[in-house]
Amino acid sequence: MKVNEKKVSPSSVIGTASIDLMGETVELPIVEGSEGERAIDIRTLRKRTGYITLDDGYTNTGSCESAITFVNGEDGILRYGGYPIEQIARSTTFPEVALLLLQGAPPPARELKRFSQKLTEHAMLHEGLRHHFVGFPPEAHPMAILSAMINSVSCYHPDLLRIGDEEHLLDAAAKLLSKVRTIAAFSYKKSLGEPMIYPDAERGYVSNFLHMMFSKPYTEYEPSDEEVRAIQLFFILHADHEQNCSTATARMVGSSGANLFASVAAAVCALWGPLHGGANTNVIKMLEKIHEGGDSLSATIDRVKRKEELLWGFGHRVYKSSDPRVKLLRKACHDVFQAKGISDPLLDIAQELEQIAVKDDYFVERKLYPNVDFYSGILLRAIGIPLNMYTVMFAIGRMPGWIANWAESWRHGSRIHRPRQIYTGSTERDFVPIDRR
Ligand code: SDX
Repeated sequence: MKVNEKKVSPSSVIGTASIDLMGETVELPIVEGSEGERAIDIRTLRKRTGYITLDDGYTNTGSCESAITFVNGEDGILRYGGYPIEQIARSTTFPEVALLLLQGAPPPARELKRFSQKLTEHAMLHEGLRHHFVGFPPEAHPMAILSAMINSVSCYHPDLLRIGDEEHLLDAAAKLLSKVRTIAAFSYKKSLGEPMIYPDAERGYVSNFLHMMFSKPYTEYEPSDEEVRAIQLFFILHADHEQNCSTATARMVGSSGANLFASVAAAVCALWGPLHGGANTNVIKMLEKIHEGGDSLSATIDRVKRKEELLWGFGHRVYKSSDPRVKLLRKACHDVFQAKGISDPLLDIAQELEQIAVKDDYFVERKLYPNVDFYSGILLRAIGIPLNMYTVMFAIGRMPGWIANWAESWRHGSRIHRPRQIYTGSTERDFVPIDRR
């Protein structure tokens, strides 16, 4: 694996931390990133003292230095390559954001055009791959299909398993970004028992996806500009989010030297969990239950406060104030409803729930605010995306972030991820063979 010169510029050492280890003092460097975040660099701790650190869920642990995305949870800041998400959301396209994340700067028009052509060229699946869908039952979960098919794509493109330079990487990224749309749409058509709709070379990234989802052999689906804008925004807002569970998984798997497709397929599985990308589905189920009269807002809040269930779409490991993506998604919901002349009672319920929770001490004390998943499902519902594909939509959006982080780790020649542990099991004892037990 050729290590590329595009290494992450390291954080700077600004001082030292003295730690008293029960009488033995160790001095460790304090490093600072470009946004003033500080860390104690413990890379030499065990070698020098025999000690490790313990941090369940890595709440206090930085796994890497990265130059891709910055999140400030206290101030509700999200920037891709230094560009505020509020600016990006208004004036870019998803392919452009993908290149920004992959290369660290907005692409020149010529390069974006070339990348968009690659996305169009690679939209088809190998016919052998198309037959894989026959084996999935109609009710198969689209996240299972997505993860399985991403690995299967690499069987038909063995060249993609050996990424040796930036051009190869860009080609692999284009193939992945393009084909995940097709896989997602084909899995939907399979679930309906409808023929798969092939991509249309005349359409842009989002319009092509909606075409493959909703066109039929005898009638073309023409999404409105508002619908394309809404899904474009959805993908852009989900494109990256520093070291979240699924992105950290992509880095972890890639750190063993595993190829990009295997690493991204693993990330899809991590995203599937209800505490991560699966939450957008649970938000809608929670709101529908309230709407159908099965539950009142106050009863829901009371059960959450009794810890009988989670308030889905609330809380975040990093954002301890507002998630900047929430207000952009909430506005997009209103824009789509207005453009389509529709309404959705779930939006009213969601806003009411948010108003109650953000004033309730239980949530305020725990710094629980709406996160990206709270309104995103309502937006997808307005476009007609089926509920069981909401997390697949999140995965399509997050694809550039997973690829960019995998590539940054590959360029950096990162060491294999291998956390330590504190053993708390039985101490040494002799094994008694079964005939004497
Ligand atoms: C995403 O990391 C990322 O960047 C993720 C993401 C991305 O773009 O990749 O932003 C996308 O995954 C958003 C999160 C989607 N998940 C949900 O909406 C599920 C509901 N949220 C929770 O499961 C939780 O808030 C997490 C998983 C998001 C964060 O978990 P933490 O950081 O481990 O929080 P915690 O368990 O330490 O919570 C602190 C307190 C606890 O109460 P106490 O023990 O102090 O009394 O807050 C409570 C928790 O019980 N709490 C909640 C809650 N979230 C936390 N109580 C009710 N409802 C919730 N949603």
